[in-house]
Amino acid sequence: MRIGVCHYPEALPRDGWGNDARSMKALGLDLVRIGEFAWSTFEPARDSFEFDWFDEAIEVFSTAGLGLILGTPTAAPPLWLSLERPSILLTHPDGRRAQHGSRRHVCMTSEAYRSEAARVVGALLDRYAGHPAVVAWQVDNEPGNHDSARCWCDECQTAFSVWLERRFGTIDALNQAWGTGFWSQTYPDFESVALPVPTLAPHHPSLLMAHRKFASDQSVDFIAAQTRLIRARVGAGVEITTNLYAEDLAVDARAVAALDGLASMDSYPHGTGSPMTTAFHLDLTASAAGPTTRAWVMEQQAGPVNWTEINPQVPDGQVRVWTWQAALHGFDALLYFRWKPARHGQELYHSGLHRHDGSPTAAFDEIAATIEELRRIGPLPAPRPRVALLHSYKDAWAIDINPHRKGLSHRSIQLEAYRAARRLGLEVAIVDSTTDLSRYEFVLAPGLQVTTPERILAITGALEAGTRVVLGARSLVVDRENAWSDQTLPAGLHHRLGARVVDHLSQTDPVTIDPYGVPAGVWTDVLEAGEAAVLATYSGGTFLDGRPAVVENAGLFYAGFASEEAWTALLADLTGATAGPPDTEVFERGARRFVIDHRRLTVTW
Ligand code: GAL
Repeated sequence: MRIGVCHYPEALPRDGWGNDARSMKALGLDLVRIGEFAWSTFEPARDSFEFDWFDEAIEVFSTAGLGLILGTPTAAPPLWLSLERPSILLTHPDGRRAQHGSRRHVCMTSEAYRSEAARVVGALLDRYAGHPAVVAWQVDNEPGNHDSARCWCDECQTAFSVWLERRFGTIDALNQAWGTGFWSQTYPDFESVALPVPTLAPHHPSLLMAHRKFASDQSVDFIAAQTRLIRARVGAGVEITTNLYAEDLAVDARAVAALDGLASMDSYPHGTGSPMTTAFHLDLTASAAGPTTRAWVMEQQAGPVNWTEINPQVPDGQVRVWTWQAALHGFDALLYFRWKPARHGQELYHSGLHRHDGSPTAAFDEIAATIEELRRIGPLPAPRPRVALLHSYKDAWAIDINPHRKGLSHRSIQLEAYRAARRLGLEVAIVDSTTDLSRYEFVLAPGLQVTTPERILAITGALEAGTRVVLGARSLVVDRENAWSDQTLPAGLHHRLGARVVDHLSQTDPVTIDPYGVPAGVWTDVLEAGEAAVLATYSGGTFLDGRPAVVENAGLFYAGFASEEAWTALLADLTGATAGPPDTEVFERGARRFVIDHRRLTVTW
């Protein structure tokens, strides 16, 4: 794994760059990312570009032997541009324009912004496209973060109407697909389908779903335009990627990764809670564009952040564990955030690899030792998971629009199965149904909310090839427009399953699963077994006692529960694996077996 760091030459004294570069090299780093957010320094006034300072930074870092990742600065437009072309600014649902003073306050649809983005990226390409030290370009920075993917400006409204017309062809088709007779919501034409703003009672779930998809598409288009510009002008060996914050659901990470084949994410484990959530993010990114996607961690937390509720300390040994975790999840590169902390601006209390006076933080030596350790081990063979978790942003949007129970989310439902697999020492690829599922022994599909013919074909194809598929609670319920299916559930697979889901209970009773004796969790799908074999039953619960909890027919399973314990018990049964301690990950890599114990902060092999 290549290791690097993020540096902000626009904010750090010029006479310190040389020392920074040499010290990076001495630490064992070989990549440095610069430039994202630096638009007002690149172009203080329209068309008067100032690149001398950047030339010098590039020269200093490349002379020291570091490979450069250049960020395009479009997550932070300069004030003069917002004043000159206010239509670039994101509009909130209440019609207010976002104000200058932070970042990401732009509309991804705005033609003005798209052309300004192309102009500044063009200027950077004119100067640096052929530079031999530039190994990669990062397009934008965390699109979708800070809830920035959705905008309510007039241009978005028009684009949404056009997007809907392309999707449906006629307004009658839309009215039919969305069932707009409900609460008298019939639309006379596409122009009158307003972008959803807060309503008295809930808004229409099909419209909300369409809006999420539209917003994601707009961001992907925005990124794609820059990616194309760069790809046309740089050599084949130069990477292009966009770093996403994997906890965000606003932008479909698969569509972004597919643009140029390299996925990247920013990893801030303190923002997301448990180590297994970080593992989930890593696996989601690592398989973002299919099982062979390459992936980078573009920003790795290396000390306390400044934006969570508590911002706790980072204990000794933690940065080493985070670094190993990325390496073992198959990442090709990792860059720590950031070389020096900021003395100005919004991130004063955010740590870096140094203090504000330039002295190194505790992470510094730990990183040196970790790099040395990784070097000694040498390149690791790629992960070869037996298990895939079926995931899509459409399912996430559908369940988040209709959680039906406070606190329930697509991510929470998926994490139960994911954590169980990890607990059993199983590695997991997180893929969507365009991937060839037959390459996995087991496919787990909890919260596979949306049923589509393509998806059903992918699953039946995998079943025919001998893969065992375990559908979990809340699967195959709605169609692609987020309307309830008119078929028996699980829609599209109930014949194949030989069983049906007849009800869904947001659970208030202490239900357990027999024979495992573990809790069923907060959600229980009610099953009727038909010809399917009953592998487990619910125990306790007003409506459920003795009824099937897990059924199976010829390799297709349906598990109605929603708890990590029940997933662990079922998967242990199916795979023959034994549960290890929680928050522990096992990785088989060639002849070596690595174990990360996140509670003790150890990595052993
Ligand atoms: C990331 C962002 C960085 C920095 C960092 C702080 O989300 O990409 O620019 O703000 O958070 O943790």
